[in-house]
Amino acid sequence: MPIHPSAKPSSDRRRITTARIAEMKTRGEKIAALTAYDFSTAKILDDAGLDILLVGDSASNVVHGHETTLPITLDQMIDHASAVVRAARSALVVVDLPFGTYQGNSRLALESAVRVMKESGAHAVKMEGGERVIESIRRVLSAGIPVMGHLGLTPQSIYQFGSYVVRATEGDESQRVSDDALLLQAAGCFALVLEKIPAALARALSERLAIPTIGIGAGPHVDGQVLVTPDLLGITTDFSPRFLRRYAALADVMADAFRRYVSDVKSSAFPSEEESY
Ligand code: KIV
Repeated sequence: MPIHPSAKPSSDRRRITTARIAEMKTRGEKIAALTAYDFSTAKILDDAGLDILLVGDSASNVVHGHETTLPITLDQMIDHASAVVRAARSALVVVDLPFGTYQGNSRLALESAVRVMKESGAHAVKMEGGERVIESIRRVLSAGIPVMGHLGLTPQSIYQFGSYVVRATEGDESQRVSDDALLLQAAGCFALVLEKIPAALARALSERLAIPTIGIGAGPHVDGQVLVTPDLLGITTDFSPRFLRRYAALADVMADAFRRYVSDVKSSAFPSEEESY
């Protein structure tokens, strides 16, 4: 895989490629993915051994404070992706194409994906949906751009779903997700995110598909897992779905640090002589 000049891997760490992600499934090695939106956090994630850094359009919620993923723009996604690429020495960087940049228009989809690849130096894009966006996905793939699919609860369609409840629990939708998964594999997607679907369906799909499945709220029998990093870190506190495991309570740690700083500034305890020139 050609390496973006600002993101050269160090000599002791091999770049994760889409081919290596495929091999991981063959070997039975689980794929660890998390979202990343900025340079400093992406550097810590990359050093910690993440296989995939997903520049998710969840940035719309957790960075920009919107209620849904819909408002974030392609320019904003490219800014986030460029920062993450500069930090990622080893991980594969995958970028969400945001809402309105690929649905129903395959020419626009290709333009959007090309902008992401050229301007950020990312390694792949992610697109939500199956049959109804297949033309766009095929066109992006035809340009040699790797595509990760995304089925189940696809947040860009939230106003059609009406809520964030678990998807594909009924026969019709379950069948549609299965058909879409096979279609995306046949089109050439290198991996597939399965969001908030029953564990049994995710397991059946993971066993049937040759390409890796990355689950979020899809149970343990998938080929990898992804979470939204500020949720995992406990920076966001108002979002507690059953599938989320919090590995830290950073909101408390940060609030305590900020309060102590305010107190030190107000009392002139900061800066000290040693902290001055
Ligand atoms: O935008 C995002 O963070 C995502 C993950 C939840 C899969 O798409």
